Amino acid sequence: MDIHIHKDKQEVAKQFALFFNTLVQNKPLVHVALSGGSTPKVLFDILASEFKDNINWSAIHLYWGDERCVGPEDEQSNYRMTVDHLLSKINIPSENIHRIKGESQPLKEAKRYGHILQKQLPTLDGLPVFDLVILGMGDDGHTASIFPHEINLWNTNENCVVATHPETGQNRVSLTGPVINSARTVAFLVTGENKAEKVDEIIHQKNGYEDYPAALVAPLSGKLVWYLDESAAKNLLI
Ligand code: 6PG
Repeated sequence: MDIHIHKDKQEVAKQFALFFNTLVQNKPLVHVALSGGSTPKVLFDILASEFKDNINWSAIHLYWGDERCVGPEDEQSNYRMTVDHLLSKINIPSENIHRIKGESQPLKEAKRYGHILQKQLPTLDGLPVFDLVILGMGDDGHTASIFPHEINLWNTNENCVVATHPETGQNRVSLTGPVINSARTVAFLVTGENKAEKVDEIIHQKNGYEDYPAALVAPLSGKLVWYLDESAAKNLLI
């Protein structure tokens, strides 16, 4: 496991932007799944301001690891957040952007998006292979939109499933475990003290850690990187 600890969210985002830049350099085609959440927001701002002209955006195809079932203009839409902080500021062909349609009927959309992945991405053993999947982690140990109360959704034969937020009941469309674990590289961006307990339990495999979807992230490639701020990593530093 590759763990990078930086001072704060801003520094995590900055260092990850450098990692991202290196990963995509000189590649003719790169498939990346983005995440929602507060750290990606800062990452997108940095990519838009500092990497706008350094990265060949036309080689990059963007997807989402999960989406809230709301319209693309909604404040809660992960797509909208990405448009506001990144897509509206860079030169990326519109055909490179593959959003999850949060406004569609969730089951139908999970199926449609699963097919898109199957069609667009190279496959290995029948599963679509991303070059990079970016993930966040909630303080309950969820990742993408697979929550602990629905951990059974992690291991399914589908590329995408419909999940339900445990508190709000909001539907989400999410990638499943087999797709996440087929990626060439998976990167967690986790910041904030409220994540410290789960980060420690998962990384050190403590106390029933397997009940947390984030603990099931184990890419077959072996390339799992954690980008943490000092607050989220605080129990690792003791
Ligand atoms: C979402 C996410 C989700 C997120 C975590 C962490 O759409 O909500 O994809 O999995 O990454 O909840 O979010 P923060 O970075 O804001 O803590």
